Amino acid sequence: SVKLVVIGGGSSYTPEIIEGVIRRFDSLPITEISLVDIEEGKDKLIVIANLAKRMIEKSGKTIQLSWTLDRRQALKNADFVSTQIRVGGLNAREKDERIPLKHGFIGQETNGAGGIMKAFRTIPILLELAEDVHEICPNAWIINFTNPAGIVTEALLKHSAHKKVIGVCNIPFNMIHSTAEILNADPSQVKIEFVGMNHFVFGQRVFVDGINRTDEVLTSLARENLDYSPANIVSLGWSKGFINSMKLLPNPYHQYYYQTTDILSKDKEALKEHGTRAEIVKNLEKSLFTIYSNKDLNVKPKELEERGGAFYSDVACSLIDSIYNNKEDIQTVNTFNDGAIAELPNDSVIEANCLITKNGPKPIAIGSLPAQVKGDILQMKSFEELVILASISGDYNQAYQAFIANPLIKDERKVKSLLDELLCAHKECLPQF
Ligand code: NAD
Ligand code: G6P
Ligand code: MN
Ligand code: MN
Repeated sequence: SVKLVVIGGGSSYTPEIIEGVIRRFDSLPITEISLVDIEEGKDKLIVIANLAKRMIEKSGKTIQLSWTLDRRQALKNADFVSTQIRVGGLNAREKDERIPLKHGFIGQETNGAGGIMKAFRTIPILLELAEDVHEICPNAWIINFTNPAGIVTEALLKHSAHKKVIGVCNIPFNMIHSTAEILNADPSQVKIEFVGMNHFVFGQRVFVDGINRTDEVLTSLARENLDYSPANIVSLGWSKGFINSMKLLPNPYHQYYYQTTDILSKDKEALKEHGTRAEIVKNLEKSLFTIYSNKDLNVKPKELEERGGAFYSDVACSLIDSIYNNKEDIQTVNTFNDGAIAELPNDSVIEANCLITKNGPKPIAIGSLPAQVKGDILQMKSFEELVILASISGDYNQAYQAFIANPLIKDERKVKSLLDELLCAHKECLPQF
């Protein structure tokens, strides 16, 4: 029997994990789930726990579900610990999105200045969690969803004693599904060779049933204005010139890097119209929790698909399933490079196709970086390294360096006032600075 602990159990995404656990129960016997949150999240946690209990009851599976604010208690005998926390809540996210925009930069929860601040707030807290896990349930796997997921995973793998940490994101899953749609294929038959990092990952080649169909996908990406993005990102489409020259499948987040001017003006328009994504999510959450509170509801409601992270539970549950059952299948996760990409250090975390066994993920060799994005990927990785160092040290100059190293920021004339305003706005969540 398996015990799963969900850190940040009050998240509106939790019903999706519960659904994933129920659906796999016969091959993956998770018989105990503990939902953990903090005082501020208690009301949400209780609503979620009650909905989860109704979902479990309806399924007829024998799963014992509990909630607690005592994380060390919850960690006892855990086999898997998933993390989905938001330090500072949606108010902090709103600052991450609003303040950079005011200074003329992209304001986003995982990219640019906003993503850096989210890492600064989150990494110290998850390092403490990892130490607890290492002490209380040393054999447990941490499955990290908390953003910026790639950077957080690298921070934990490099700087905590606990080495069983895997980062996950729904973007590779979404890319497989939209590619399947383009090719009119079954998603389970679509294989994409990914290269890069979380939210900066490219598809190099696409295979369906072993046949290389990359060119068809590239042609469609350049021709049709298909909606390739999750709910939280616009979809401006890619120009023929870009796709034909680059010959890679971009992910929706690449729009921030390769269409910066257009995205900036879109985001400024949107800000006037309805505020930042954080404000939209606040409203979405309100209606989701009203729906969740309905005592007749005993399934994951459709409305959850309006969240950008929809379908992430499939990624998490499939991963847990493959580790538990030593499936040796291939899944796309965030883990140590270990030589998969020639130009990166072994201890860089990459988002890569991995063989998933009971001993965890083993990245499949990628070789050299594609020349057309080699510089961008190396720059993003050195930027991420600076973010991790600054998150831990609280050193102002390191934070400044991280801002300069980020391709969405750079501008020396504006960095100091942007950084200073963000550090001040997030003061209570940044004790290390
Ligand atoms: P949310 O605001 O609902 O937060 C989730 C819960 O975490 C809240 O109930 C909150 O009270 C709790 N929390 C905050 N600090 C905590 C702590 N120290 N210990 C325990 N619980 C704590 O956020 P959300 O929208 O559900 O997102 C959660 C996280 O998952 C975010 O970091 C988000 O960026 C990330 N996310 C990642 C992906 C992905 O693709 N990797 C997809 C969706 C969301
Ligand atoms: C995306 C990403 C997540 C991101 C989320 C935002 O798909 O992969 O990493 O944080 O969705 O969704 P939201 O609904 O919170 O804006
Ligand atoms: Mn056990
Ligand atoms: Mn993601």
